[in-house]
Amino acid sequence: MVSSFALKALTAFFSVSSVAAQRAGKEQSETHPKMNWKRCTGKGGNSCTNVNGEIVIDANWRWVHVKGGYTNCYDGNKWNTTACPDNKSCVQNCELEGADYSKTYGITAGSDSLTLKFVTKGEYATNIGSRTYLMKDSSNYEMFKLVGNEFTFDVDLSQLPCGLNGALYFVSMPQKGHGDAGAKYGTGYCDAQCARDLKFIDGQANVEGWTPSSNDPNAGVGGMGACCAEMDIWEANSVSTALTPHSCQPEGYSVCKDTGCGGTYSLDRYAGSCDANGCDFNPFRVGVKDFYGKGMTVDTSKTMTVVTQFLGSGSNLQEIKRFYVQGGKVIANPEPTIPGMTGNSITQAWCDKEQEIFQEEIYPFNKYGGMASMGKGMDLGMVLVMSLWDDHYANMLWLDSNYPPDGDSSKPGVARGSCETSSGVPADVESKSPNAQVKFSNIKFGPIGSTFAQP
Ligand SMILES: *[C@@H]1O[C@H](CO)[C@@H](O)[C@H](O)[C@H]1NC(C)=O
Ligand SMILES: *[C@@H]1O[C@H](CO)[C@@H](O)[C@H](O)[C@H]1NC(C)=O
Repeated sequence: MVSSFALKALTAFFSVSSVAAQRAGKEQSETHPKMNWKRCTGKGGNSCTNVNGEIVIDANWRWVHVKGGYTNCYDGNKWNTTACPDNKSCVQNCELEGADYSKTYGITAGSDSLTLKFVTKGEYATNIGSRTYLMKDSSNYEMFKLVGNEFTFDVDLSQLPCGLNGALYFVSMPQKGHGDAGAKYGTGYCDAQCARDLKFIDGQANVEGWTPSSNDPNAGVGGMGACCAEMDIWEANSVSTALTPHSCQPEGYSVCKDTGCGGTYSLDRYAGSCDANGCDFNPFRVGVKDFYGKGMTVDTSKTMTVVTQFLGSGSNLQEIKRFYVQGGKVIANPEPTIPGMTGNSITQAWCDKEQEIFQEEIYPFNKYGGMASMGKGMDLGMVLVMSLWDDHYANMLWLDSNYPPDGDSSKPGVARGSCETSSGVPADVESKSPNAQVKFSNIKFGPIGSTFAQP
C-alpha cells in the first residue's frame, strides 16, 4: 500500500526528444542519496566490510509529465486522457522526472543512515510519506538472498504514533526495474497485495481502468497490479510491530488484472495468487502486551537494533527468528501467552498453529505454498524497501489496534496493539503528526551469527 504524490507543472521551457518507452525527464537530475551498509563474515559482528549503496525513491512519487514539456500526464489522482489515452501511448508520451530528495520528499541519508519524514511541504506540492529502495549502483537494485543469513539494522521510531508504519521489507522485484527509466527512477515495484495503485507496471502505464481514490487526493487504482513474494521484516510504529512473510505464486514478478489481483486494492481480497494476509508474529497479538512499546522491554522511545535470522539453506527456509539489542542487552522475541500457541519464531508449524488458534477461515499463506514458497521467493534475490506510510484502506488498525475493528478483542488474534479503533485516519495523522519520521541505520547482512553477538 502506498500514498503517492504529484507535482504541479512548472512553467519554464525545456525540450528533449526520444522515442523510447517509460523514459526519464531532464528537468531535475536524479542524484541518489548515498547510504553505506555492511557485509559481515565470521562471528559476532566484528568482521564486517563497508559496502557503498545508494537510495532511490519509487517511481510513483515522481512528477510524470509530457515528454520534453511541463504538462502533467498525471495530476492529483487522475491521468490526463489526452496524453494518456491508453497504457501504451502514455509511456510513449510521458516521462518520469528526477527527484529533489530532501526538499520535495523529506528523504535524507547520513553515511550509514536514512531518515524518512512523513509530511514535506515542497515548492509545488505537499508530499506524504515515501518508499525507497537500496541500490547496488545507479542502475541496479541490490539483490539479497536471505536464506541462511541474518539482516540487522537500527531503527528510531520514537516519533511514529498510531496509524503510521515505518517499514523495512523485501520484495522479489526485478533488479533493473522496467523501461528506459529503469531502477534508476525506482520502477518495478511489486508486492503480495498485487499493488494496483502503481502508475507504471511492467513498462506500461496503468491508465486503463484507473479509478481515483475516494479518500486519497494523490492515489488511485488501475486495471493492472504487480505481484511478487514479500518478506516484511519490519512493519512498525512506536506502539506495535509485526514480522510477516507473505507467499506468492509465482514467487517472482507477475502482472495481474482487475479484481483478479486480490489484495488490498481489489473487491475480493482473496481472488489473486498472493497471500495478502501473511503469517505474522506480533508480540501483542500473541498475548504479550508489555513487550514492545514506550518504556517496555523493547523500549520504542529509544533506538534499538533489530536482528532477523532466516535459518535454512538455498531455497529451503526453515525458520525466521527475531532478536532485539538495546542498552547492551540481547532480547529474544517473547513466548506467546495465548493458550495453545508455542514458540517465539516463525516456522511452518507456527503458521499452521496461528491459522488454527486465530480461527482464520481463509489463510492464504499456506494456500500459496507457505514457508516453502517464501524460501523460493527469497532465492530469486530480493530488493530492500524502506518506507513510511499511512493507510487509506484500514487506518493501520491491523497493526496497532483491534482488527477487524468491530471484532471481539478477547478472541485470540483480534487485538494487535493498544491504539484506539478510531485512530489512524490518514487525514488526522497527516494534520496532527506532520513531523513524524523514521530513521533506519547501521544495516548489516551476512551468515547467521555474523552481524551481532548472539548469546
Ligand atoms: C493534457 O495533455 C495535453 C498534451 O498531451 C495538453 O495539451 C493538455 O493541456 C493537458 N491537459 C491538462 C488538463 O493538463
Ligand atoms: C492495459 O490495461 C488493461 C487493464 O484494464 C489490461 O487489460 C491490458 O492488457 C493493458 N494493455 C496492455 C497493452 O498491456
